[in-house]
Amino acid sequence: MNKQGAGLFIAFEGGDGAGKSTQAARLADALESRGLTVLRTREPGGTPIGEKLRSLVLDHGHGEIDAHTEALIFAASRAAHATQVIRPALERGEIVLTDRYIDSSVAYQGAGRDLGKDAVRALNEWATSGLQPHLTVLLDVDPAMGRQRRTAGDAAEDRLESEADDFHGRIREAFLELAGSRPASYLVLPAHLPVSELAAAILTRVDALLASPEVAPVGASPSAGDHGGGTP
Ligand code: TYD
Repeated sequence: MNKQGAGLFIAFEGGDGAGKSTQAARLADALESRGLTVLRTREPGGTPIGEKLRSLVLDHGHGEIDAHTEALIFAASRAAHATQVIRPALERGEIVLTDRYIDSSVAYQGAGRDLGKDAVRALNEWATSGLQPHLTVLLDVDPAMGRQRRTAGDAAEDRLESEADDFHGRIREAFLELAGSRPASYLVLPAHLPVSELAAAILTRVDALLASPEVAPVGASPSAGDHGGGTP
């Protein structure tokens, strides 16, 4: 396990419409109700510069964004996020829950955009100085189901979401391959399971990590709470 302070670093990954945000919120509530300090954050975003980069890369209307530029924007957002938010929180002994991290770039840009998974991984390891989650929760979603979920209620799809189903199929395969290559660092769950069942499985796995002697997260401070993508 990669030790970074006494905190615990958990990433939620999966295709669009997998339900990552719901599960991150459920886990945060469960841990906070025990008095633990949790920082919930997301990518792209999580810092002021990251939120600007988020709108640049996700909103329609910025003209053509080629695949290399797209990968670099996500990596730039992640560099700021790792340095300004995640590492300091782990050093304070907090539990960091991020909605997406490096695996999203490996899957979307490496496999989806065909830039090469190894190249994209190397770029992001450089951007984050090798900061890795203790655990990645992968919510595995069928692309058709993901699209159905995210367009429910006529919600508009962003630049990446509006790609064809075969793009999302490549992403799904890439996520599963990443999990298969390091199974001890992943919890893979089918996204179609009931929300409460998923939440219980995730909490069980996190409890096992909390029992590890390397992890000693701090209790809640009066200022603790959901930072909602801002700076801590
Ligand atoms: P997300 O915030 O999960 O979408 P939403 O706000 O709709 O829940 O992710 C935004 C999109 O960005 C998503 O389609 C995945 C994509 N993405 C990448 O392509 N590469 C990355 O490195 C990251 C972090 C996200």
